[in-house]
Amino acid sequence: MASAPASPSAHRPLPKAELHLHIEGTLEPGLAFALAERNGVTLPYATEDALRRAYSFTDLQSFLDLYYALMAVLRTEDDFADLAHAYLARAKEQGVRHAEIFFDPQAHTARGVPIGTVVEGLARALDTAEQTYGISTRLIMCFLRDQSAASALETFEAARPHLDRITAVGLDSAEVGNPPSKFREVFARAREAGLKCVAHAGEEGPAAYVWEALDVLGVDRIDHGVRCMEDERLVARLAAEQVPLTVCPLSNVRLRVIDDLADHPLPEMLDAGLLVTVNSDDPAYFGGYADDNFTAVRDALGLGAETLGTLARNSFRASFLDEATRARYLAEVDAHEAGAQQE
Ligand code: HPA
Ligand code: ZN
Repeated sequence: MASAPASPSAHRPLPKAELHLHIEGTLEPGLAFALAERNGVTLPYATEDALRRAYSFTDLQSFLDLYYALMAVLRTEDDFADLAHAYLARAKEQGVRHAEIFFDPQAHTARGVPIGTVVEGLARALDTAEQTYGISTRLIMCFLRDQSAASALETFEAARPHLDRITAVGLDSAEVGNPPSKFREVFARAREAGLKCVAHAGEEGPAAYVWEALDVLGVDRIDHGVRCMEDERLVARLAAEQVPLTVCPLSNVRLRVIDDLADHPLPEMLDAGLLVTVNSDDPAYFGGYADDNFTAVRDALGLGAETLGTLARNSFRASFLDEATRARYLAEVDAHEAGAQQE
């Protein structure tokens, strides 16, 4: 018997992992104002609407200026726990089953917030995530590449008492002029401590930064990496080694890395055999969470169900999960597709 066509509200999101998500980039205007009030912080915007009107970016730096300014409201362990809870609730609605979450300790320690407050606040929420939201989680500590190499080393040493909470280190903030090689030493130290390594590269910066992230930092994944498409040899290497790329389509459009979503190189990247994943980056700022990014590329690029399934499977393949859990999540994607065919 033919069933009625699914209505848009019946959209069941694909099970997926989110691997490129800055927790500070999930700070929605409503929570920003609530935390400002709780902490007696005055924001330079009178209303949520006035704040939202500032979300018009010309490049990465114009976004980073607002992203760092709004962090002034994050002061206590409770603030970081509330921020993570708000993200996890949204992520659950979007089909996220596993999240590997970035945080920027230097953006907080520079304001006098101890790194322990940040890590323990986030960890308190993440400790309940499996039970409350059905989402497994990992934490990735990022270094701000527009700060010095010495500051990154100092941050890593300050984080040592908390390394049991941290799976990987990453590299973010203003890319151009701050190549991966600047952070050779801190990444070597992190690898020695048994951490995984990732780095933003090839977002605004050139393909050469992707080579450096691989060869100098020894990263396990590249965050963004879309500019790899300018270098055929690099594409061949990334495909041969199946280095995961955590692509963020709505972010790319909002930060003007790509003019129009319809021109996004995602289909060419998949055709080239790259292990591409789709992620939200800073969803409160860029207009969509994980599944919103899946839906946006589906609509703008005409991706079929098979390609969307590949992207969902890639997200688990590219994760830092243990093999048994990865297999369980991949089976959920199979089951989701089997269910969708019967509808
Ligand atoms: N790029 C670099 N740094 C960032 C980003 C990004 O997209 N989001 C938050 N910090
Ligand atoms: Zn990012």
